[in-house]
Amino acid sequence: MNWGRGFRVVAFLALCAAAAATATYQPKPYKMGIRAFFPKPTFPADNPLTQEGVALGERLFFETALSETDNISCAHCHIPSESFSDPRRESIGVHRRRGRRNAQPLFNLVWRRNFFWDGRAKTLREQVLQPIADHKEMNLDPEEAAARLGEDPEYSRAFAAAFNEAPSPRTISLALEQFLLTQISQDSRFDKILRGEAKATPQEERGRALFFSEYDPAHGIRGADCFHCHGTAVFTNERFANNGLETRNGDEGRFEVTGKEYDKGLFKVPSLRNVALTGPYMHDGRFRSLREVIEHYSNGMVLTANLDPNLAKHGGQIGLSEADKEALVAFLETLTDESFVDRAKALERKHGFQLPPGPPRGLLDFDSPPPPPPPPPRRR
Ligand code: HEC
Ligand code: HEC
Repeated sequence: MNWGRGFRVVAFLALCAAAAATATYQPKPYKMGIRAFFPKPTFPADNPLTQEGVALGERLFFETALSETDNISCAHCHIPSESFSDPRRESIGVHRRRGRRNAQPLFNLVWRRNFFWDGRAKTLREQVLQPIADHKEMNLDPEEAAARLGEDPEYSRAFAAAFNEAPSPRTISLALEQFLLTQISQDSRFDKILRGEAKATPQEERGRALFFSEYDPAHGIRGADCFHCHGTAVFTNERFANNGLETRNGDEGRFEVTGKEYDKGLFKVPSLRNVALTGPYMHDGRFRSLREVIEHYSNGMVLTANLDPNLAKHGGQIGLSEADKEALVAFLETLTDESFVDRAKALERKHGFQLPPGPPRGLLDFDSPPPPPPPPPRRR
């Protein structure tokens, strides 16, 4: 046989195969609408959002097979109807292992520059594999997770449609990244007031004024200084700060990542959107209510050397009146986005999501006694 001819035939066949594969691999772009007054979002250029990728990521978010014991999904600690946060102080992972921090809500992540309370992950795709591998969370080698999914023909098809590849830690992380990036909250009462579609009550208006103004008694201004850190449309400046909490459980926050003395007790400034839904508050869930948070800023801050200058300048006290404390809470409550919650509830129904076992919704304390065992079957 003529070698040259044989090679040409093989090359031709390979071309046909490639053409066939690309003909079937045609993911459809996923369109998103983001309101004009938000900062311009930057989506990852190397992981364009597609309908297939987002749908796969959504499914993976509710997938318990990503955990060692096949009973914990991402949604178990990031409960969708709670704005993807956890009402328990610390999350509970496989074998009821208890974590040390409060799970963050997941939305508007396209504007985040780093992830976790200490910012130890730089990208979402890097972040999402950590809970799968974490001993206290899902405790499964991502390779093993991918192998499990590969055994399911439906998943194999879904991965091929989204990435033209088999399930792998890489494609799992890309799909989860895509899904998380689509979770945008931008229609709270605050937004509607801004757009002139709703009107603030005098109390909400007083809270807004306090939130967005400086504390500068020398010039007769007595604001609450919140905007320095929780400003902009996303309600966080994306930085790390010490907001006057005493150190607990040896958790040094940002210091654990950088080793710099100044970073002791610095934590990521959280977004305050949907904050009425994301209690308990702070990295360790130490405050149960927004009122307790306001009490902290009003007169409970610990004056450490690295307390942020915007808070240290009033000696750890803003000394708010009762009416002003209530006004700030009322303002924070305007940041709840009902349409976001409705979409999250629809996701829970679609995926047959059940609340995790343990303390029921609304019962925030991990240490509360477990629910009583079911009564024994009655004898006749
Ligand atoms: C056992 C509970 C638990 C599970 C399961 C879990 N998480 Fe988390 N998640 C947490 C906790 C706690 C934090 C905060 C940890 C920290 O900051 O050190 C967190 C933080 C995050 C963050 C960072 C958010 C931010 O604003 O920085 C993202 C993103 C995230 N999780 C996504 C996921 C995904 C995706 C899954 C599923 C693959 C998942 N999580 C599974 C508890 C959990
Ligand atoms: C110097 C920056 C800074 C200022 C000023 C500031 N905060 Fe914070 N805020 C933070 C940081 C950092 C955290 C998270 C701290 C932690 O968990 O250790 C936080 C947490 C919170 C939380 C809890 C959110 C959650 O999801 O757990 C609320 C609510 C809050 N701040 C409201 C306010 C209000 C209201 C004001 C004004 C009175 C204010 N903050 C002023 C930096 C700041």
